[in-house]
Amino acid sequence: MAEEDGGQNIPAEPIEVGDDGGSSGEYYEDDQDEDGDSEDETGSDSSGHNSPQISTRSLSGSILDYPIENGRTYCGLGEGAYFMPNDEAEQTRLSIVHQIHLALLDGELAKAPIKDDIGRILDVGTGTGEWAIAMAEKYPSAEVIGTDLSAMQPDKVPENVFFEIDDAEQEWTYTQGFDLIHMRNLAGSFESWSKVYEQAFKHLNPGGYLEVRDFQMTQWAVEMPDSPAAMFTKALKSASDKAGRPLGVSHIKKAKVRQVGFVDCQVGFMALPLGTWPHDSKQKWMGKMWLIGVLEGLEAMAMRLLTIQKSWPPEAVRDLCGQVRDQLTSNTNETYTPV
Ligand SMILES: C[S@@+](CC[C@H](N)C(=O)[O-])C[C@H]1O[C@@H](n2cnc3c(N)ncnc32)[C@H](O)[C@@H]1O
Repeated sequence: MAEEDGGQNIPAEPIEVGDDGGSSGEYYEDDQDEDGDSEDETGSDSSGHNSPQISTRSLSGSILDYPIENGRTYCGLGEGAYFMPNDEAEQTRLSIVHQIHLALLDGELAKAPIKDDIGRILDVGTGTGEWAIAMAEKYPSAEVIGTDLSAMQPDKVPENVFFEIDDAEQEWTYTQGFDLIHMRNLAGSFESWSKVYEQAFKHLNPGGYLEVRDFQMTQWAVEMPDSPAAMFTKALKSASDKAGRPLGVSHIKKAKVRQVGFVDCQVGFMALPLGTWPHDSKQKWMGKMWLIGVLEGLEAMAMRLLTIQKSWPPEAVRDLCGQVRDQLTSNTNETYTPV
């Protein structure tokens, strides 16, 4: 169980628990190889930072001044910037995907065996903050901090949840540790997952858990070869590699987290149907929701990466997305996405 590492003693931290698949069907083998702080009104620091951060309660105009590209707003400019939009449409897509995760976990928010009186929770790349808010509601004793590059979290939140604008690739400055660190759907976000894992390890309390979840979209190239969907994922993978922030799930590997000190790691994948083809009613619901999420996300995933990294004209991106849409809605591919 517990292992010493640099003075830290952290037992049993699954990074991603996929059990027998539960309601979601198949279980994939391990280690697939595919290619202002939350200052309150009085100014006190409730998030455990030792240096001032930007709080969602004190956002300056320039931070909210998001660039518009091809009709969508994004956070940051240029080649190294995060690839997906942050506008209303993207927020709706994130809400749909949140519901899918809930269904995959049979209504649970996490698989790590956390206690009812859990203390501090960090949700890295929180997006709309739905997971963080749900955790704060479920665990009233907890203090939940959600961080993101974009300020797209609601203002009205439970008292025990705090949102901050923060780049997880910068040095983490929390002075108090966390009992659970959560990272969901962050594929393509980081240059170095190892550095992010290192920081997570450093900022977990002894016995704390790191839970990481992501979709393996690159599976399309295997399951639907020589199709628009395969071309889509290959183009995105290549563009994200060029950007230095690779898409895919190669960060979900035991070796990756073990090398920074984690022990008792569990890796698993659940199978999420894509499309309306399943017969089982829950599977059908998930397949339908995932299809809606994917269709809503095609252009959102592709536009910035392919126009900036591959110099595709926007019309070419829209054309490919249209072909993928036609393919996926034709229901001829009974495909699963590993999650
Ligand atoms: C696909 S969304 C997932 C949001 C949320 N985790 C969920 O599951 O609903 C990815 C989020 O990660 C954020 N993100 C990307 N790079 C980041 C970074 N370096 N630091 C903090 N957040 C980041 C993006 O702004 C975006 O909101």
